[in-house]
Amino acid sequence: MSSNDFPPLKNDLILRACRGEPIERVPIWIMRQAGRYLPEYKAISAQHPFFEVCRTPTLACEVTLQPVRRYDLDAAIIFSDILVIPQALGMDVEMVPNEGPCFPQPLKVPEDLNTKIDRTRKASIELKYVYEAITLTRRTLDGQCPLIGFSGAPWTLMSYMIEGKASTTMSKAKRWLYSYENESHDLLNLLANFIIDHLVEQISAGAQLVQLFESHCACLTPDLFNRFSLPYLCQIAKGVRDELSKRQISSVPIIVFAKDAHFGLQDLAKSGLFDVISLDWTITSTNIDLLRKENSTLTLQGNLDPCALYASKENLEKFVRRMLEIFGTKRYIANLGHGIYPDISVDNVKWFIDAVHLISKEMNDN
Ligand code: CP3
Repeated sequence: MSSNDFPPLKNDLILRACRGEPIERVPIWIMRQAGRYLPEYKAISAQHPFFEVCRTPTLACEVTLQPVRRYDLDAAIIFSDILVIPQALGMDVEMVPNEGPCFPQPLKVPEDLNTKIDRTRKASIELKYVYEAITLTRRTLDGQCPLIGFSGAPWTLMSYMIEGKASTTMSKAKRWLYSYENESHDLLNLLANFIIDHLVEQISAGAQLVQLFESHCACLTPDLFNRFSLPYLCQIAKGVRDELSKRQISSVPIIVFAKDAHFGLQDLAKSGLFDVISLDWTITSTNIDLLRKENSTLTLQGNLDPCALYASKENLEKFVRRMLEIFGTKRYIANLGHGIYPDISVDNVKWFIDAVHLISKEMNDN
């Protein structure tokens, strides 16, 4: 698919922010913007199990569009999950309501790589439903705003495949890094190659940007990050670009979100492989200044604390203003520092989005 196969884009703010071009107001989207804080999402999820929504293009399209119908958002993100990859590789994943993901048979020992994972599986076949959902959604969006595709990153997926569910210490998965180093690299490499295919297929189906979620860096030491996360993030960005050029498909901006990897941000930026780095709420303004100073062609995304959406409108406006002052209005995409929580008020979300637009426009006009 090429852009000629889709309706023309009416709002390209986010793409301009990625290229460092002038923008009249700062673009904004919200991680997990399609989700349980929206009554219309809850109505659908009351009738359909989570992975059924992911696997049914008409439902995934509907849920993707819900937040962009309600709010003045500058991007849509396709409704799916990072865990569709372990599923596609042959592992069972259940989504337990109000608890989260659960793997009934997680990886326990390196031999499981030969019995619980099917290396012959191809993203283009197993995850066809994601690509169909993307094409349908981009058509239905009718150019209202760009559509983001995404994938989990290798370390985050590996940690779920071993832990089997959420974990605060990740000690089972980290045990692999320390005691089965070669097998860990084997698994991470297998995942990286699968992810490259998954992202290329999403772009080929119509995704106009892609984001890589490396959500589980908080448990890594800087050394573990440098050995088991950073090289694979870079391998993916490079692999996606090479494959796109081989297939003569235009490249799209790549966003990387390495949550809690404050120690790795300069290296990610210096790699020159990412258009956008997404920041969590722990990053200081000094670090933001440094990233800006040393990487003039990098766009930053983030980083309001999701809990700031519990604040009064008056205080939320102050937080937004401060965030815009720190990041500036150029090469910047406003977002939260992680996904939105289910008990956030729909009115405060509207206020957040509108405040980013109003205040950044006012700053640009002055
Ligand atoms: O709107 C969007 O952002 C697009 C859809 C999206 C979902 N998951 C839908 C979802 C995206 C981008 C994700 C990414 C994802 N999934 C990540 C990376 C981002 C992050 O939060 O760090 C991770 C770690 C997952 C794995 C996952 N999926 C967890 C831990 C959970 C349970 C916890 C939670 O937040 O609900 C899910 C379920 C999930 N994925 C829901 C949604 C809307 C809630 C399911 C429901 O109960 O309806």
